[in-house]
Amino acid sequence: MNLIFLGPPGAGKGTHATRLSQELGIPQISTGDMLRRAIREGTQLGLRAKGYMDAGELVPDEVVLQMVRERLQAPDCQGGYIFDGFPRTLAQAEALAAFTRIDAVLNLEVDDELILHRLTGRRVCPECSGTFHIDYLSDPQVCPTCGGRLAQRADDARDTILNRLSVYRRQTEPLIAFYRQKGLLRSVSGAGKVDDNYLAVKAALGVP
Ligand code: AP5
Repeated sequence: MNLIFLGPPGAGKGTHATRLSQELGIPQISTGDMLRRAIREGTQLGLRAKGYMDAGELVPDEVVLQMVRERLQAPDCQGGYIFDGFPRTLAQAEALAAFTRIDAVLNLEVDDELILHRLTGRRVCPECSGTFHIDYLSDPQVCPTCGGRLAQRADDARDTILNRLSVYRRQTEPLIAFYRQKGLLRSVSGAGKVDDNYLAVKAALGVP
């Protein structure tokens, strides 16, 4: 099964893609995670991406497309995959259609106020890559999974989140109509509790 998880920043794409990828045994391909890794490792790609990401702007299409094309060559992608945060522009979606087949596009819907609450309260673990929200942490500095020291993403500052939302509306939201027209779109609310949302995601995708 080749899937795309679409939705504004903070909709829960990463949360649900991680869980479904473990359940189905197929990789989650998060272009955001791949770019953040490149920045940590100080590669050419990371150096090129950093300024865009810190400002909440999109990294140029050709950079992301090259990275995704290479990722799809890996043997673990042969049985299917979940794109998380890709494609994000019509140019990326059209290019993707030329080199792979997509079975379904899951679109998570969440309003802006909830997104701001989620992203300003998000904490990530640099050790195990876990993602959490301070509302559910007994200690907001310590990873409940591995004991690592939690951090805040550079682009989770309030003004940067507002810019990411406006970039989403301008450049990514048109993909909803694009995939609806192809008969691939499945929209669900991402506003409820995580477990309830996850059940709705699976039902929309026909996963038992
Ligand atoms: P990326 O890393 O993809 O970020 P994003 O799309 O902005 O999405 P997020 O990771 O912020 O949110 P999410 O929907 O995954 O939500 P999450 O599950 O974490 O991209 C970052 C940057 O990289 C971009 O701005 C761009 O510069 C660049 N980039 C990446 N891909 C690109 C591309 N294709 N083209 C060009 N540039 C690209 O959840 C958020 C929080 O809410 C968490 O704390 C979570 O615990 C909590 N939460 C989730 N669901 C629930 C729930 N139901 N109830 C309560 N809390 C919840």
